[in-house]
Amino acid sequence: MVKSVAVMVGSLRRDSINRRLARALEKLADGRLQFHELHIGELPHYNDDLWDNLPESVARFKDRMDHSDAVLAVTPEYNRGYPGLIKNALDWGTRPYGQNSWANKPAAITGTSSGVIGTAVGQSHLKSDMLNMGMIVMTRPEAYIQFKPEAYAADGSVTDDSIRKFLTEFMDSFVTWIDKHG
Ligand code: FNR
Repeated sequence: MVKSVAVMVGSLRRDSINRRLARALEKLADGRLQFHELHIGELPHYNDDLWDNLPESVARFKDRMDHSDAVLAVTPEYNRGYPGLIKNALDWGTRPYGQNSWANKPAAITGTSSGVIGTAVGQSHLKSDMLNMGMIVMTRPEAYIQFKPEAYAADGSVTDDSIRKFLTEFMDSFVTWIDKHG
């Protein structure tokens, strides 16, 4: 059965390389996973008071999480951490108290930057937080991707053989992870 994956892209940039990576990963999942991007940029800053008159964006986000089998974060590294955009979404997901949307969801993390460490430090912080929030995070294989623009076609396919093989193996592992823990 096709599994539904809620995808958080940690960048709002129109030409985000992380969104390009997310699209490439969806293609490589080859119909086994259906991606639904969580529009985390539409969420207000977390504020307990807003539960009294819940913004539509938060209601949609919580509903999408309730109907997702798994979570995938594709994120840039910001100053050796991960973007506040994602932290804000994570916090919304943990509330109301007792209704943690993340609990027991199989999850995976990847990300890309032009730098050689390919978001490794940012992903490490994010992994720690996602584990603390109750997600069942896939820890191997790790996927720290140094972005090579020439390796991706406009339609999202990966044209570089070794990168395609690596990313395909990452997605194969994620599919297995979801089957095992979902
Ligand atoms: C960055 N960038 C960056 N890159 C990196 O490898 N390590 C880092 O710690 C940082 N820090 C950082 C902070 C801030 C505030 C910005 C805006 C950028 C560069 C970053 O990888 C680059 O802008 C990517 O293109 C961001 O990904 P998207 O937006 O293209 O998906």
